[in-house]
Amino acid sequence: MFESIVILDFGSQYTQLISRRIRELGVYSQIIPFSTPAEKIKELNAKGIILSGSPYSVYQKGAPKPDKGIFQLGIPVLGICYGMQYITNAMGGVVQRSKQREYGRAEVEISCQSPLFKGMCEGARHTVWMSHSDRIEKIPADFEITASSANSPVAAFQHATEPVFGLQFHPEVSHTVDGMHILGNFIDSCGITQKWNLGEFIDSAVRDIRETVGGDRVIGAISGGVDSTVASVMTQRAVGDRLKLLFINNGLLREHESEEVMAAFKAMKLDVRYIDASRIFLQRLSGVTDPEKKRKIIGKTFIDVFEKHASGKAFKWLLQGTLYPDVIESTSHVGPSQTIKSHHNVGGLPSRMRLKVLEPLRLLFKDEVRSIGGILGIPEKILSRQPFPGPGLSIRILGEINKQHIDILTKADAIVRREIEKSPVAATLWQYFAVLLPVKTVGIMGDERTYEYVIAIRAVHSTDAMTADWARLPYELMDSLSSRIISEVVGVNRVVYDISSKPPSTIEWE
Ligand code: XMP
Repeated sequence: MFESIVILDFGSQYTQLISRRIRELGVYSQIIPFSTPAEKIKELNAKGIILSGSPYSVYQKGAPKPDKGIFQLGIPVLGICYGMQYITNAMGGVVQRSKQREYGRAEVEISCQSPLFKGMCEGARHTVWMSHSDRIEKIPADFEITASSANSPVAAFQHATEPVFGLQFHPEVSHTVDGMHILGNFIDSCGITQKWNLGEFIDSAVRDIRETVGGDRVIGAISGGVDSTVASVMTQRAVGDRLKLLFINNGLLREHESEEVMAAFKAMKLDVRYIDASRIFLQRLSGVTDPEKKRKIIGKTFIDVFEKHASGKAFKWLLQGTLYPDVIESTSHVGPSQTIKSHHNVGGLPSRMRLKVLEPLRLLFKDEVRSIGGILGIPEKILSRQPFPGPGLSIRILGEINKQHIDILTKADAIVRREIEKSPVAATLWQYFAVLLPVKTVGIMGDERTYEYVIAIRAVHSTDAMTADWARLPYELMDSLSSRIISEVVGVNRVVYDISSKPPSTIEWE
């Protein structure tokens, strides 16, 4: 097992980000429930413990508290925000409740005597990101203050002799200018010698798959996206031709997508069967306009089609490209979790299929999956594909889905992708696509009045889809998008550009 830093999850929106940052620094990190017993943490080969932030206040009923045994393990502990307030509370200090929030950038003065701030300039001001309400009124005995700001006199502290540290601000957020340096210093204090190495991870994952699956057969569905492709190639390495893949065309794919995906898989010598199920998907979606209903129908139909083609063929395992963020989301035990959109496409396979789930990517973040894909020799064209949602174009056709709407959107989307791909800006974008709005507006073409649909263009920057910024596309590019769509796509007489960021909007429109 890799040496790791474990992050006890108290429900902060930044928990995943802490984990990613640690891995970016070349060390394996795992997020575990805050209630994990100290003994179990030791078994995980943990060399350091981070206590995350939380939506709770330490005095609140139901506030998450970890096993106090973590302080006896002799492993460095770093509390961030709520994590620091918990340490204060647990060690006899005083946290003051406050309804007033300190949110945003702040300047702190630090003491370089602290191992956490080693290499940073003594006395100089450092910009950090604060996001908290409660604040520390009195530090516990045997602790010393190591950073302060105007609003937070105790912006950081440490135990005088034990490796226990607290930060009121968030080092994982990029606005904390020296955040990575501080996390790197924490890693140094943990004495970790083993690097998180993706090449080694592949070897151990392939061995794991081989042992887990034994002589059984595995079935999986591929979408042509990065995750299912990498999961398939890795599994093929482990079990060879005992892996069978299905590519289900739901009739909601982009222009030429099914041909391109099948050709790419053929070139990689994967055993894929093509199933054109577009008729049944479109039949079931007919007349449906509610976004959540569309997603549910597509999910259910996918399962029906999958089951029809996979059952009774002696498969024991279902391959899924589940990533670490999904695993964390489904195991987080803190705070109310709200469904914003039902994302999971292959939610519940009927239990009668009795397939066991194989998830070789369940410990990885998206950027790591891309790197692994490169190591496995998967073509760059697949690895650099934009994310494309399981429900496909259905959630980009607002309102009713019918053949005419699909045709219009497919054509407009192809123009958007082709034009943007020609521009250097494409390499900086996370996603770019067209959306069909179910409204008609008046226009004039030649001498005639027109009354036709509107296409919206969406192009965003993002690093993980959790937040996104609308892209400032060059005007000339917008101009060519608009003129090409209006002149080439019959049924459209207006193009608009979406200038909303996430949050408060989302990337997709439904
Ligand atoms: P939102 O719209 O929530 O999307 O900002 C975040 C990212 O997730 C993709 N997305 C999905 N992917 N099934 C998927 O596999 C889905 O149902 C789904 N809905 C959204 C979206 O394209 C973006 O990258």
